Amino acid sequence: MSDTQSYHLIGVMGWPVMHSRSPLMHNYWFRQTGLQGKYVFLPLEPARLEAALRALPALNFAGANLTIPHKLQAMEIVDEIDPVARKIGAISCVVVRDDGSLWGTNNDWLGFLGNLKQSVPGWRGDAGPATVIGAGGGSRAICHALLSEGAPAVRLVNRTRAHADRLAADIGGPIEVVGWEERHGALEGAATVVNTTSLGMVGQPPLDLRLDALGPDAVVADIIYTPLETPLVEAARARGNAAVGGLGMLIHQGPPAWKLWFGLKPEVTDELRSMMEESILGDR
Ligand code: ATR
Repeated sequence: MSDTQSYHLIGVMGWPVMHSRSPLMHNYWFRQTGLQGKYVFLPLEPARLEAALRALPALNFAGANLTIPHKLQAMEIVDEIDPVARKIGAISCVVVRDDGSLWGTNNDWLGFLGNLKQSVPGWRGDAGPATVIGAGGGSRAICHALLSEGAPAVRLVNRTRAHADRLAADIGGPIEVVGWEERHGALEGAATVVNTTSLGMVGQPPLDLRLDALGPDAVVADIIYTPLETPLVEAARARGNAAVGGLGMLIHQGPPAWKLWFGLKPEVTDELRSMMEESILGDR
């Protein structure tokens, strides 16, 4: 058994949380890197979030990930918020600093980019305009990611236009709000197309999006990972377009968190990806 100073603890706070694949992934990295420690489930009702976050330093945790429904409430609790997390409007990762204070950041946008860059090596954010469907929490991280990679414009399509208008105002930059009925045509000339709605998820109807206007070089991404490939991803690939599901986004937000917690970047291996895929397929 290692001594307490070199035993590293992290966990995921959520409610519910027991469906999370994060422990599987981070504990793979503990084994792979040889770092001693454990990543645990932290099931937590919202009323206990503040006390739980404040307990992290005393329990010797390096930090924690936050998932539904804690990502917004944490903004009111941590001592300092990374400007990117403030812009996106959600905290997905908390770091316990040496003085015991809490720093909140958001790695979801880095996960999206890391996944695209690994899965579609030729992908470039500045290759042309992007079309993003949906204007919820996931969309904020994706719009920030695309603009940070130099997308000349983001065409933002959402069922409720007011939500898209608010997102565009909060994130800033060249975001053009496009009406829900015009979504099919918004694919014309797009270099990247991303679904951030819940449509296509297990138990939900598929996203109704005609791909006729999609150019042959356009890259299509979905942030959903149950199923591993949504009808949108399947339809885009059937047309010959590069297309990625959302599991890689979840995996790729891990290494930036490790960099913050432990100063090292674990590898996203094929073995890890297969392990995560098998775990999700096992739920069916
Ligand atoms: P998340 O934080 O995971 O992005 P969210 O904030 O609930 O989740 O956002 C869900 C997104 O899916 C929203 O853009 C939502 O559209 P509205 O802003 O109009 O609510 C979109 N969405 C969910 N169900 C939809 C449906 N049946 N048709 C069209 N859009 C839908």
